[in-house]
Amino acid sequence: MFETLIGQEKIKNKLSFYTKVKKSGGITPPIMFNGAKGLGKTEFAKQFSRGIGRPILEINCGTIRNAAQFFEQVFLTVIQDKEIAILFDECHALPKDLEEVFLTAFNTEGAKTKEVSIGDGFATFDFTQQTFLFATTEMHKIFEPLKDRMTVVDFVPYQKYELAGIIKNKFDWVNYESGLLDEIAGTVRGNARSAVKRALEIKAYCNIKNTSNMTFKRWEDLKVTLDIRPFGLSNIEVEILKTLKEHGECSLQMLSAITGMSRSALQKDAENNLLRCGFLKIDGKRHITSKGQKILETL
Ligand SMILES: Nc1ncnc2c1ncn2[C@@H]1O[C@H](COP(=O)(O)OP(=O)(O)OP(=O)(O)O)[C@@H](O)[C@H]1O
Ligand SMILES: [Mg+2]
Repeated sequence: MFETLIGQEKIKNKLSFYTKVKKSGGITPPIMFNGAKGLGKTEFAKQFSRGIGRPILEINCGTIRNAAQFFEQVFLTVIQDKEIAILFDECHALPKDLEEVFLTAFNTEGAKTKEVSIGDGFATFDFTQQTFLFATTEMHKIFEPLKDRMTVVDFVPYQKYELAGIIKNKFDWVNYESGLLDEIAGTVRGNARSAVKRALEIKAYCNIKNTSNMTFKRWEDLKVTLDIRPFGLSNIEVEILKTLKEHGECSLQMLSAITGMSRSALQKDAENNLLRCGFLKIDGKRHITSKGQKILETL
């Protein structure tokens, strides 16, 4: 299990433990995969369900209208009495009444089954057959008592050498000139998805050039063609850094006016990446750091 996955060792240990629990006849608790986008929540959940020998059903919670709809259309038809793992993705969007049902269902203290009333009927949760998995990027929006009933696994950002490993593993027939993978990893945002995307770009480039050797020269060519910047900086992020350099300091509102992005979009994505890279400092106002000034000069 997890052979193809790089890093996140604590998560691998925890999930491997629950795989053994299942194999020794025990039940797996509801597990919550918590982490920023692209870190591997869905992938780990899939490989875990394979490890415990259960097919996985992925449900985006944004598509569930209410508890009644879920039980009629999903629970009674594909979950009840079936051996299955269910991944409730974006679970911060669970409808309130379904959240209530889960609060009762998961209040088991080790029991193997739980009957829960829904509308006029009953549903049986059988934890010897079913594994309930949840994933979210917005842990703070999850109802505290529900969180309490779950085993939480927290994803951490990937280190540069891990990103290099992900790029290399994705298409291992590509040979990289010595030192190049490290440089390429430096152009990736700190998550697995952006490493995978970079690997796909390199594979496409190698196919076009009919080669399996990635050299510094070819990488320079690809970088210019696809406008690849250090740390995977986007146009907007560069704009923000330039603005901060010119103005000295800015409010979020001002950055939003300059970039045309909403405040929450700025905070979630651009600012987050700039903070992670150490290019931005926030103390109420936004400031560019000296590291940020240096990177601007290299662009
Ligand atoms: N540790 C890892 N090693 C190698 N590849 C990984 C790893 N984690 C994730 N990936 C790959 O990265 C991509 C993104 O992973 P995944 O879809 O699981 O992220 P996610 O956390 O579910 O993102 P989102 O919050 O957007 O749903 C997938 O192609 C996946 O196979
Ligand atoms: Mg996902």
